[in-house]
Amino acid sequence: MLITRFLHLAAGLLLAGGLGACSTAAASVPPTPLAAATFVPGASRGEQLFNQTCAACHGVRATGTQIGPPLVDKIYEPSHHSDAAFLLAVRNGSVQHHWKFGNMPAQPTVTDAETREITQYVRALQREAGIR
Ligand code: HEC
Repeated sequence: MLITRFLHLAAGLLLAGGLGACSTAAASVPPTPLAAATFVPGASRGEQLFNQTCAACHGVRATGTQIGPPLVDKIYEPSHHSDAAFLLAVRNGSVQHHWKFGNMPAQPTVTDAETREITQYVRALQREAGIR
């Protein structure tokens, strides 16, 4: 009698212990809402900056939108639009000349160093698409 009672108690403790471990593991998984909003796992800083500032017009992965051209396009290959062209476009904006989307406004929130990171990201997308 006493022994069965003890076994029940032991089993109950084991079960409680097991569940406890599970819920602790689960509790450590969810990220804070702020981190989820600003951190994209696996994304380079260039990609994050591009998504924040350029994607509204140039589209996610620079594939273009209704209001801006794709940068993954032969027109923007390095020999036609060097990295310096990216710096100038971001610093000063760009007057419509290749497309019919209108002018690109200057992007004063983006530093030259950030533009270099963005440009590296766009170059990587271009290489992926066979544009060199
Ligand atoms: C408000 C919309 C808009 C935003 C935001 C924008 N662009 Fe543009 N961008 C354009 C348009 C439109 C053109 C095409 C102008 C043309 O050639 O007709 C363009 C052209 C360019 C060009 C080519 C310039 C040239 O010399 O022909 C580069 C490079 C460029 N954008 C990079 C960027 C980068 C990098 C960002 C983010 C930091 C960005 N753009 C943000 C609209 C935008």
